[in-house]
Amino acid sequence: MFLFYFFFSNHRSWLYNERVSFIYVNLTSFLNIMAKSFHLFMLILLLHVLEYGLANKFSSLSHADECTLLFQFKENMPINKYASVDSDAYLKVASWNFNTSDGAINGCLWDGVECRFGHVIGLDLSSSFLYGPIDSNNSLFSLVHLRTLNLADNHFRFSQIPSGIGRLSQLANLNLSYSAFNGEVPKQISQLGNLVSLDLTRNWDGLKLHSSDFQVLVQKSSKTLRELHLSEVKIDSTIPASIGNLAHLNILDLSSCGFTGTLPASLNNLTQLTVLDLSGNKFSGPIQPSIGNLTHLKMLDLSRCVSTGSLPSLESFSNLTYLSLSENIFDRWKLPDWFGKLNKITYLNLDDVNLNQLKGSFPSSLLNSQNLESFYLNDNNVTVNFYPFLSLKKLKYLNLNGNNITFPVMGGRTNETQAKFKYLSLRSCDLKDFPELIRFQNQLEYLYLDNNKIEGVIPKWMWNISKGTLDLSNNMLHGSIPVPPPTTKYFSLSNNMLTGEIPSTICELLSLKFLDFSFNNITGSIPPCLEKLSHSMVVLNLRSNTLHGTIPNIFTNGSRLQMIDLSENKLQGHVPRSLEKCESLMILDLGYNFIEDMFPFWLGALSELQVLILRFNRFHGTITIRSKIKVNFPKLHIIDLSYNSFCGDLPHQYFQAWSAMKETKVNARRGYYQVAIQMTNKGVKMEYVEIINIFSAVDLSSNRFRGKIPESIKTLSGLQVLNLSNNELSDVIPPSMGNLIRLESLDLSSNKLPGVIPQDLVQLNFLEVLNLSNNKLIGPIPQGRHFDTFSNDSFMGNALCGYPLSMKCGDSKASNSPKVSFEEDNESDFPNGIDWVVILIVL
Ligand SMILES: *[C@@H]1O[C@H](CO)[C@@H](O)[C@H](O)[C@H]1NC(C)=O
Ligand SMILES: *[C@@H]1O[C@H](CO)[C@@H](O)[C@H](O)[C@H]1NC(C)=O
Ligand SMILES: *[C@@H]1O[C@H](CO)[C@@H](O)[C@H](O)[C@H]1NC(C)=O
Ligand SMILES: *[C@@H]1O[C@H](CO)[C@@H](O)[C@H](O)[C@H]1NC(C)=O
Ligand SMILES: *[C@@H]1O[C@H](CO)[C@@H](O)[C@H](O)[C@H]1NC(C)=O
Ligand SMILES: *[C@@H]1O[C@H](CO)[C@@H](O)[C@H](O)[C@H]1NC(C)=O
Ligand SMILES: *[C@@H]1O[C@H](CO)[C@@H](O)[C@H](O)[C@H]1NC(C)=O
Ligand SMILES: *[C@@H]1O[C@H](CO)[C@@H](O)[C@H](O)[C@H]1NC(C)=O
Ligand SMILES: *[C@@H]1O[C@H](CO)[C@@H](O)[C@H](O)[C@H]1NC(C)=O
Ligand SMILES: *[C@@H]1O[C@H](CO)[C@@H](O)[C@H](O)[C@H]1NC(C)=O
Ligand SMILES: *[C@@H]1O[C@H](CO)[C@@H](O)[C@H](O)[C@H]1NC(C)=O
Ligand SMILES: *[C@@H]1O[C@H](CO)[C@@H](O)[C@H](O)[C@H]1NC(C)=O
Repeated sequence: MFLFYFFFSNHRSWLYNERVSFIYVNLTSFLNIMAKSFHLFMLILLLHVLEYGLANKFSSLSHADECTLLFQFKENMPINKYASVDSDAYLKVASWNFNTSDGAINGCLWDGVECRFGHVIGLDLSSSFLYGPIDSNNSLFSLVHLRTLNLADNHFRFSQIPSGIGRLSQLANLNLSYSAFNGEVPKQISQLGNLVSLDLTRNWDGLKLHSSDFQVLVQKSSKTLRELHLSEVKIDSTIPASIGNLAHLNILDLSSCGFTGTLPASLNNLTQLTVLDLSGNKFSGPIQPSIGNLTHLKMLDLSRCVSTGSLPSLESFSNLTYLSLSENIFDRWKLPDWFGKLNKITYLNLDDVNLNQLKGSFPSSLLNSQNLESFYLNDNNVTVNFYPFLSLKKLKYLNLNGNNITFPVMGGRTNETQAKFKYLSLRSCDLKDFPELIRFQNQLEYLYLDNNKIEGVIPKWMWNISKGTLDLSNNMLHGSIPVPPPTTKYFSLSNNMLTGEIPSTICELLSLKFLDFSFNNITGSIPPCLEKLSHSMVVLNLRSNTLHGTIPNIFTNGSRLQMIDLSENKLQGHVPRSLEKCESLMILDLGYNFIEDMFPFWLGALSELQVLILRFNRFHGTITIRSKIKVNFPKLHIIDLSYNSFCGDLPHQYFQAWSAMKETKVNARRGYYQVAIQMTNKGVKMEYVEIINIFSAVDLSSNRFRGKIPESIKTLSGLQVLNLSNNELSDVIPPSMGNLIRLESLDLSSNKLPGVIPQDLVQLNFLEVLNLSNNKLIGPIPQGRHFDTFSNDSFMGNALCGYPLSMKCGDSKASNSPKVSFEEDNESDFPNGIDWVVILIVL
């Protein structure tokens, strides 16, 4: 996230500079022409002074109608009141009021309104919580003198851009970015003949611009257009050759527009360009050498857009500061020497560019780039000497994941010459040791050395260098758990071979949000002093160690914990009642321990809890709702109580209470960190990608539940996995289970279920795993749909007949009938039962 932001902040500052220089040029040339007549010149000068100095403060609208139009706009425009709670943006239009006390109605003084000569010429309503569609007959479009209209960063609820905008024929600057507009961009926008700057970027990928309209746009505004920002507007064609007509264009952002075909040669006519972003399109041809004509470029982003050819020389770009070529499939290449000539470059991204070999002792060609601040070389699988990077004094962000890094033994150089990194990532670099060369880094906020083969004990100097984030997971570290500096926020030692106890000094890390010691061989008990971290910690993961003793009462009021995983240890005793204070808790996994307790019904009050895993412990007793708890697991969608000694009836009251499992659509939330919990297999995965599906599962298997499967189970209509196997259920399968239409896996095996298999189960269209074996079922197996795809194993150990069993059902036609035609979904990637689920944790 941080890097993402970094990119944008750079980008923005260029835009700003461009705008300023443009105004300057424009005004000067204008005055030059006019200065032919001295009087005229003086007059013009006076007018400009008036305009710039006095315009807004002292002019009032000569046409009161414009004021009324503005007010009508305000009246008709819904505002999202709720969004304003903790945001920098504010409700501009809310301050628009007729103030008749001084007898004047002056809309020019209203927030965001700019006037000149009594007309509204500018309206900046960006970030103003506007919420809702704008109709094409909106009074806004009667403000025909408007030259600037900025509605960016609002929420228009996926409505279309109103075509009424075409009436604003004077518009020079139109900004509708980040505003949740959707659908086809009205052709009226292309007709605006005075556009200087157009920004339609990032409307949630929802805008489409007809390619013919794009052509018209380019044609109509070829004389005026300086900035064209169309990122994420789907255009779905090739870039038209006519784009070469935009002779004055400074900024062109066509990223992720869905362009195909080859890059038109005419693009290289745009010699005034300073910013060019073509990333995320799918061009079929190579980048033409003539791109070198764009000598004024300061920023060039060609990431994710070519799959063939070689990179032409960019050495003529002497002012280039930002270059991204990431994720292109160039023909195998070597880093050319001309990179060294880009001596103004501050940001260079060469992630995954199919580099063959780094010429000479890389990055010698970059050694001239003393301005380099960020360098990315991920996933090229090349051998890189780390040493030269240290002489790039401004280098702060260095990312070399997925390469073979060599660290020559330090020579006579002192730390004086060293770059001081803020961010260093050497993930998956096949490292065998801690690199001594980073020993004198003392400004590191992020250090990633995970997924290497680092062996042995963590050297003491490591604790002098890492200040915020330290990830050493997936190595082969031995020894006891060290304690990082008190400023540490993120600390992962997961998947190593660490031993000994958790030192109580860990409780001094008062900024710690993320603590992951999972998959080691840590012994002893959980230190009670962790209570001190209750207010900072978001993730506590101690899974798969050898911890014993009881779980201490470390959870306090105001706890921010969202995930607690203590599974696969040797913990005993009760579930500590203090857990009920973790009001933000989303995931609780206590599986595979020796916990001896009744069902912790009081956890039902945790209104954020989504996943509860108590698998393989010594829980016992019946499960009933206690009336004193007001809410009962409202967001729970995964519960695994298997391999315990729960008894009595199935918890039918809970089946009615678990409302999240009744939803057939689940919205995922966005976040920076995601945890994937494996339910049936061992292991925790951390994913850094966005995954939308959230599974819904109930596993009550291998307990001692008796009696019947309650009718109320049918209310869990969002359920994807249900496992009730290995219990003592002894009543007929309720036909209403056919309502669980999202079920993908159903296991009722090893019970004492009598009667017939209800025909209704044939409705379960998504069912891929079915196990009804070892019950007392009788009669014919229902036929059709998915039931024809199950094998003998699904039905064995009963007194059933019909396909797929060899036992025929008397004279029933079922057994001999040809298989009902059913397109089997061979692409299913759903193996036996559910494997893992993704929950988003926002750190
Ligand atoms: C704009 O048009 C809509 C229907 O398209 C109508 O309901 C609404 O009253 C009109 N508003 C004005 C201000 O004319
Ligand atoms: C459009 O508005 C957004 C939000 O205020 C801003 O970030 C962006 O730079 C503007 N675009 C142009 C071209 O000025
Ligand atoms: C590109 O520039 C060349 C020479 O400057 C000119 O002949 C050609 O017409 C231009 N192409 C376009 C599409 O503007
Ligand atoms: C553009 O570059 C090509 C090849 O690099 C060159 O032949 C051509 O003269 C250049 N055109 C202009 C207008 O500079
Ligand atoms: C590079 O930038 C400098 C300073 O802004 C400017 O004077 C010069 O003309 C630029 N060079 C090119 C090739 O654009
Ligand atoms: C990286 O290179 C090594 C040695 O050249 C090779 O064995 C390995 O398969 C490569 N890995 C990838 C992901 O290309
Ligand atoms: C990594 O680089 C070193 C030094 O050049 C070399 O000996 C080794 O074979 C390389 N390893 C791989 C996997 O390419
Ligand atoms: C170099 O290291 C010494 C001791 O480790 C330290 O006192 C000094 O400030 C460092 N110099 C720089 C420029 O970081
Ligand atoms: C850690 O830093 C302190 C103070 O700069 C220094 O005295 C100590 O020697 C360093 N420890 C190691 C192991 O480098
Ligand atoms: C964990 O440590 C115990 C004793 O400390 C040892 O017996 C056991 O083999 C270790 N387990 C692993 C997986 O290293
Ligand atoms: C924690 O919160 C509960 C209920 O909100 C309150 O009764 C209790 O006194 C609080 N405890 C502390 C230590 O603040
Ligand atoms: C249901 O749970 C049992 C253990 O209680 C397990 O053996 C079985 O594989 C599970 N069924 C499915 C389909 O995952």
